[in-house]
Amino acid sequence: MTRLSAVGPEAADTLAAVHWQAFTPGWSAAELTELLDSPGVFALLAQAEEPCGMILCRAVAGEAEILTLAVAPPARRQDLARDLDAAAAGLARQAKAAEMFLEVATDNIAALRLYEQAGFQRAGLRRGYYDRGDGVRTDAVVMRLDLNTAGPAAYPKAD
Ligand SMILES: CC(C)(COP(=O)(O)OP(=O)(O)OC[C@H]1O[C@@H](n2cnc3c(N)ncnc32)[C@H](O)[C@@H]1OP(=O)(O)O)[C@@H](O)C(=O)NCCC(=O)NCCS
Repeated sequence: MTRLSAVGPEAADTLAAVHWQAFTPGWSAAELTELLDSPGVFALLAQAEEPCGMILCRAVAGEAEILTLAVAPPARRQDLARDLDAAAAGLARQAKAAEMFLEVATDNIAALRLYEQAGFQRAGLRRGYYDRGDGVRTDAVVMRLDLNTAGPAAYPKAD
């Protein structure tokens, strides 16, 4: 069984280890600690036998943002990202956020499908947003979820 828990800066090493399984380079524990010490930032950690997923969000002044989302390769295609996303949206609503935003690379088909299925809609395009190295840049789609119209049943509470 996979358990989702709200965690703070004390879990930065674990969050970083999961993040590095999904991104190269991943975010360091120091970067994650700094973010988690910032106003409105919260994280959820997914744990089965091992830590296997994480999401980091910010909810400030009525607006929430997914800062990053990562699922370790062995745990993929088991609805974990869907559950992390839904739980984070629930926490954002509890923090009085009315809408949730994120940026995703236009070539990240898995994440685009995930967010579209979760009810996010395309709200804009940031040209050349991601630096892939060697001068290659990729556009980002800005996506938005209306947390007021999305039903509460879709957003189970995290621990
Ligand atoms: C994107 C990512 C978070 C998805 O995690 P996951 O736990 O495997 O996703 P889920 O099992 O919850 O999938 C939910 C939906 O997302 C879509 N999806 C997920 N992975 C997909 C893939 N490889 N190809 C196509 N669609 C995919 C599907 O629509 C899926 O629903 P379905 O299984 O009913 O078809 C994971 O692949 C990952 O960590 N990737 C690297 C980091 C990243 O891109 N993070 C997001 C940045 S914005």
